[in-house]
Amino acid sequence: MAAYYFLLIVLLAASEISEADGQNELCTDFYCNSCPELLSIVNQGVVNALKKETRIGASLLRLHFHDCFVNGCDASILLDDTSSFIGEKTAAANNNSARGFNVIDDIKASVEKACPKVVSCADILALAARDSVVHLGGPSWDVGLGRRDSITASRSDANNSIPAPFFNLSTLKTNFANQGLSVEDLVALSGAHTIGLARCVQFRAHIYNDSNVDPLFRKSLQNKCPRSGNDNVLEPFDYQTPTHFDNLYFKNLLAKKTLLHSDHELFNIGSSTNNLVRKYATNNAEFFKAFAEGMVKMSSIKPLTGSNGQIRINCRKTN
Ligand code: HEM
Ligand SMILES: *[C@@H]1O[C@H](CO)[C@@H](O)[C@H](O)[C@H]1NC(C)=O
Ligand SMILES: *[C@@H]1O[C@H](CO)[C@@H](O)[C@H](O)[C@H]1NC(C)=O
Ligand SMILES: *[C@@H]1O[C@H](CO)[C@@H](O)[C@H](O)[C@H]1NC(C)=O
Ligand SMILES: *[C@@H]1O[C@H](CO)[C@@H](O)[C@H](O)[C@H]1NC(C)=O
Repeated sequence: MAAYYFLLIVLLAASEISEADGQNELCTDFYCNSCPELLSIVNQGVVNALKKETRIGASLLRLHFHDCFVNGCDASILLDDTSSFIGEKTAAANNNSARGFNVIDDIKASVEKACPKVVSCADILALAARDSVVHLGGPSWDVGLGRRDSITASRSDANNSIPAPFFNLSTLKTNFANQGLSVEDLVALSGAHTIGLARCVQFRAHIYNDSNVDPLFRKSLQNKCPRSGNDNVLEPFDYQTPTHFDNLYFKNLLAKKTLLHSDHELFNIGSSTNNLVRKYATNNAEFFKAFAEGMVKMSSIKPLTGSNGQIRINCRKTN
């Protein structure tokens, strides 16, 4: 009996520790007194940005992903380089690629007017990513809030943590596992490639060197993306509905019509993820559910909370 109670206490203590440094630290009503207008301001900012350019929704979603994968969702990606500081904007995956910074600046400026010095840039980015997906027709999820902003950023950590398009399935799995994300999360979150664009330089290797690619699709992309040159030519991931968030990404994987080697790895001869791809390709509701769950997990990676970090006034620089 005594041993039973001892075990119970140990288990309870352990669950509290894991809550203290896990996703449960964030809560959806974090700003309900200090900034009740926050959600509507961010939503309006996303709506305005989408009116100007539909692609921006994809860019904001990716910005949040690239923030979270580098030492947690702490707005580190938003810090500008200075003469004495190199941040993440020029890391391999972000240079000439990450975009949407001005949208976050505009939203932050409106938020500062309504409720000065209380809302973090990291929280604004998490909300903007969710609102982008919703407005493009994707699923919704509750965004836990209370993240604080980093006072530093690391280009080498960004180089090492953000997955690259030349990764194979096993390195993709390891990369996501390093962030506490599962194989289901890897496949579902890759479904973000139902929106947005990629540059020729990123998909060249796939369309010239991978086997098992649809021949007409390969040919048409090779016409736009030669073996050398045209590096910055853009193509949509989902050539049918590039600004609509749906499960066509997975249908395209089944049809061997995808842009990146890393996408191709998720559905290929002998891949352990083939059944997940088939499931999401045939069942949009399953995809939406898994995507939303994956986003909640990704959004909760190592947040700075309590008195850690700061609430940046300007997302581009520390206070
Ligand atoms: C699984 C590993 C992943 C790899 C290797 C990868 C790689 C890439 C690459 C190379 C691009 C094109 C960038 C360019 O050409 O400049 C891209 C674009 C994009 N990625 Fe991923 N990605 C991955 C996962 C994700 C995840 C988890 C998300 C979000 C949840 C995401 C969202 C996006 C979006 C929305 C775009 C288009 C952005 C735009 O049009 O501005 N990706 N990704
Ligand atoms: C980033 O891109 C610019 C413009 O293409 C280039 O001049 C610069 O060398 C790149 N920086 C890094 C670190 O790769
Ligand atoms: C990170 O990647 C960029 C661009 O490829 C490169 O210039 C830089 O040397 C890399 N390493 C570090 C530590 O920044
Ligand atoms: C995947 O890539 C890693 C790193 O390049 C390599 O060590 C490994 O052998 C590759 N795995 C497979 C199954 O190709
Ligand atoms: C394709 O593979 C060849 C031979 O391994 C290599 O030399 C070339 O750089 C690769 N092309 C691309 C675009 O990755």
